[in-house]
Amino acid sequence: MKRISVLLLACAFTLSAALIHAPAIQAAPTVIKIAGMKPEGEPETIAMHRFGEILEQLSKGKYKVEVYPNSQLGKENAYIAATRKGVIQMCATGTQTSALQKSMGMLETPMLYDSYEHAHRAMNGKTFELINKGFPEKSGLRMINAFPLGFRHFYTKKPVKSIDDIKGLRMRVPNIPLYTNFAKECGISGQAMPFAEVVSALDQGIIDGGDSPFSDIVTKKMYEKCPQITTTRHILVIHALYINEKFYQSLPAEDRAWFDKAAKDSAEEVWAKAEQVDQDAIKELKAHKAVISEPSKALHDFMYEAGKRSWSLFLDPKSNNYVENAQEILDSAASYR
Ligand code: G3P
Repeated sequence: MKRISVLLLACAFTLSAALIHAPAIQAAPTVIKIAGMKPEGEPETIAMHRFGEILEQLSKGKYKVEVYPNSQLGKENAYIAATRKGVIQMCATGTQTSALQKSMGMLETPMLYDSYEHAHRAMNGKTFELINKGFPEKSGLRMINAFPLGFRHFYTKKPVKSIDDIKGLRMRVPNIPLYTNFAKECGISGQAMPFAEVVSALDQGIIDGGDSPFSDIVTKKMYEKCPQITTTRHILVIHALYINEKFYQSLPAEDRAWFDKAAKDSAEEVWAKAEQVDQDAIKELKAHKAVISEPSKALHDFMYEAGKRSWSLFLDPKSNNYVENAQEILDSAASYR
């Protein structure tokens, strides 16, 4: 009996020693999929990658982030729907979300921001909150940060020197009311299509040009067909990371704080780089013999007025895109000037 007890004790001792020295078994990481529309190297994709790296670091590997840029998981409306349904957890996009709540369109109100600094203050402040009010409940998505892709400029085949030069021009516009409405105000023939279709529309000669931030003009090589760039700066493109609201609410408080911090820090990095992104793109455009011109004063003033007129899309109670707190949003944005 005594011998059996000693034997059992020895076995227990050996087993516990083995367990102590065995490598710790790590639970498999939870995979977070993020879809986006822009190619590698652009601010949207940089934000997605940096979010992933920061989240993995903060959570010590509890979460693993898989990034799918460049419409790999479908065009923007398809992957927004997948995020709402919880097929994927997150996505990056812009004012396409105005189809879910009109106020989201006001993120890119024409002629609203003077500079990146101005928009940065508004997005870190009350303007962001006012635009977002009620969005998670309504859409099933939560916007967890906001970062700039750049001011939009015209890219065209022929130079745009005067107001007459843009009249009737077949310009690609995103299929979003704020854009189609602004094109109408400018007298442009807006050709609405998703971002992923722009290059083939240029190749087929369906459009005479379009408007995009410098980074898009470079990565999509729009300058090859449209080497005339007119720096109109009429809209600041603001994109964001969105997360499925149910998934977000299901996270333990500590994990949610990691997601929030990763979102905040990744966006801040993009804001900090915005001017440099433009400068690098300008260098690249010049290297490819693109012609970059400032708009004439008459064209600038004309577009500024058109931009201001286009605000009635949100302000007019009779508009299909009426936003109840539109004036409050505009006043708030102006207060950060
Ligand atoms: O935020 C909306 C913006 O992404 C639409 O422009 O040119 O990227 O389709 P684009």
